[in-house]
Amino acid sequence: MPGPARIVRTAAAMQRLAKEWQAKKLGVGFVPTMGYLHAGHVSLMQRARKAVGAKGLVVVSIYVNPTQFAPTEDLSKYPRDFARDKKMCADAGVDVIFAPTDKEMYPEGFSTYVIEEKLSRSMEGASRPTHFRGVTTVVAKLFNMVLPTVAIFGAKDFQQAAIVKQMVRDLNFPLRIIVAPIWREADGLAMSSRNKYLSPAQRSQAGVLWLALEQAKTAVAKRAVPAAQLTKMTSWLISTQSETRLDYVEFFDPETLAPEKLVRRGTQMALAVFFGKTRLIDNAKL
Ligand code: PAF
Repeated sequence: MPGPARIVRTAAAMQRLAKEWQAKKLGVGFVPTMGYLHAGHVSLMQRARKAVGAKGLVVVSIYVNPTQFAPTEDLSKYPRDFARDKKMCADAGVDVIFAPTDKEMYPEGFSTYVIEEKLSRSMEGASRPTHFRGVTTVVAKLFNMVLPTVAIFGAKDFQQAAIVKQMVRDLNFPLRIIVAPIWREADGLAMSSRNKYLSPAQRSQAGVLWLALEQAKTAVAKRAVPAAQLTKMTSWLISTQSETRLDYVEFFDPETLAPEKLVRRGTQMALAVFFGKTRLIDNAKL
């Protein structure tokens, strides 16, 4: 069995370690997370290990990043369980857990942000206007501390992965981004730390996001369908569940994220659905 992961708490210590690895030309696979880990995260750790091999290092960051939460979103209620996270990382063969404090990440006087200006306007960016500024800022900071050769992002946050890839290109971060597939529960619900917020009634209805993706996939399997028609079908399906409220559904080009009026096989679909105060997202290539 692999031993426990080494825990690093400060940016300086993380950078020092990362520079030692860099000097030895070791591959470093990085999985940024906000903790409360689940099987989906473990699959990202395994993907990181596969990318860097047995000689390389796998680093997982656990940091609930305040700048990606709006004042209306309850940051203090975000689920946390560091003891459990540590065990999951050890079992997955992670070498280092980087778990900095807020003071370490955003010290007094912090005033520089990274803003992506195109891909981050729609969907999650439209519903949560300051969200991606927080994500790109913290991910850029984490990249500068961990100095990874490869970083793994989950496809559940499809728009986030596209924005991070764009940032890496635009700002010349010397690393490769891998986007790893979504992990799903038996009823199709995409794994997410936020699923914990669902009441039993909401949880029993949450498979509807997956059903909506499957419904659209079937609809476009043989012929192109107007996005407006698919939007109506999706709204109707979501509304059959009493606990839901559709936030958005979008059909778009998977590279540019530009909306498509006519939806075909290969078009990307994403949706966000409220269950009470909990907002779940999902997406698929149709
Ligand atoms: O996807 C997440 O959990 C977060 O957005 C990330 C990438 C760890 C940045 O805080």
